Amino acid sequence: MSSCSRATAVAHPNIALVKYWGKHDEDLVLPLADSLSMTLDVFPTTTTVRLTPHRDHDTLLLDGVPATDEVLHRVVAFLTLLRTRTGRTAPAVVETHNTVPVGAGLASSAAGFAALALAAATAYGADLSAPGLSRLARRGSGSACRSVFGGFVWWHAAHPDDPDPDRASYAEPLPDVRLDLAMIVVMLHTGAKPTSSRDAMRRTVRTSPLFPDWIAATREDVPAMRACLEDGDLERAGAIAERNALGMHATMESATPPVVYRTAASHRLLDHVRALRDRGEQTWATMDAGPNVKVLCPAAEAPRIAAELAAVSGCPTVVAHPGPAAALTTTGRS
Ligand code: PMV
Repeated sequence: MSSCSRATAVAHPNIALVKYWGKHDEDLVLPLADSLSMTLDVFPTTTTVRLTPHRDHDTLLLDGVPATDEVLHRVVAFLTLLRTRTGRTAPAVVETHNTVPVGAGLASSAAGFAALALAAATAYGADLSAPGLSRLARRGSGSACRSVFGGFVWWHAAHPDDPDPDRASYAEPLPDVRLDLAMIVVMLHTGAKPTSSRDAMRRTVRTSPLFPDWIAATREDVPAMRACLEDGDLERAGAIAERNALGMHATMESATPPVVYRTAASHRLLDHVRALRDRGEQTWATMDAGPNVKVLCPAAEAPRIAAELAAVSGCPTVVAHPGPAAALTTTGRS
C-alpha cells in the first residue's frame, strides 16, 4: 500500500433505520448514541485521490467543478488529518463523481467521505484495518463510518467514560440478517437543504426539550432493531424505524429556532404510507436531514409499491436493496 500515490474508490450511501442525531464531541465526531443503517445498492460515489507533491494546495473537483467553499474546507481538514498521521506532506487532487443529488438528505456525504477515506488512505499509504477505516471516515462525516461496510451496519458510540473514545467509536457490519428488505427512495426534492446536518444537530442537542427522551429511546432502539433484523421481524423493524425517524424530526422541529426539513409533500407522503398500512401493506417511512421520504417494505413488493408512490407523489422513485461495502477500483502511481 505504501507505494501508492493514486487511488480510486467507490462507496454507496447508507440510510439509518435507527438514526444518529447528536454528538458529544464535535472535533472527533463522537455520537451520543449507537445507530444502525442499511447501505444501499444505488447512488454510488466514485472518488479519485492523486498526490501532487509539486503543488502547494489541495484541489477538490465535484463532478468536474472546482469547489471553493465549506465542502473544500472539510475535505482539506480531512486530508490534513491523514497527512499528520502518515507523515506525508504532499497535497492532493480529489475528484468526486456523485450519482445522487448533494445535500438533499440522501446521504451523499456518507458515500462521499467513505469513498474519500478509502481512496485517500490508500494514496497516502495509511495501513488501516476495517475499523480503522471506519473511524477515519467518521471524522469526515459521522454517518460515513457506516458506508465503509455493506448490508446492515452498527455504529458504536464510545462509552462516555472510555479512556480512548476515538478508538472506541467505529461501525461494523451485522453478519446474521434474515430480513428481505427494500427501501424505496421517493425523490420529492433534489435541491440542497436550508440547514446543514452539522448545524441542525448542534442546535437540536442544545435547545430541543424533546432531545433527552429521544436519545434515551434511541439507545434502546438499536439493540431492538438488531434483534428484529436477526429474527426476520419486518413488522417490528418497520415500526421502530418509523418511530425513531419521526421522533428525530420532532426533536429538530422543537429546537430554537426550529429546524424544519419536512415539507407539505413530505407530510402527504407520510400520510400515504400510513394509509397503505391501514390497507394491509407492510410499509414504513423514514426520513433524514432533508425533505425526502424513504419507504421500507418487503423486497418482493417494492416494484409495485414504488410505482404507486410515484403515481401518488408525481415524483420519481428508486428502489434500493442492501448494497456493497466501499471498494477500491484502481490504485497506482500518479
Ligand atoms: O453524517 P451526517 O453529519 O451527515 O449526519 C447524518 C444524520 C442523519 O442522516 C439524519 C441520520 C443518520 O443516522 O444517518
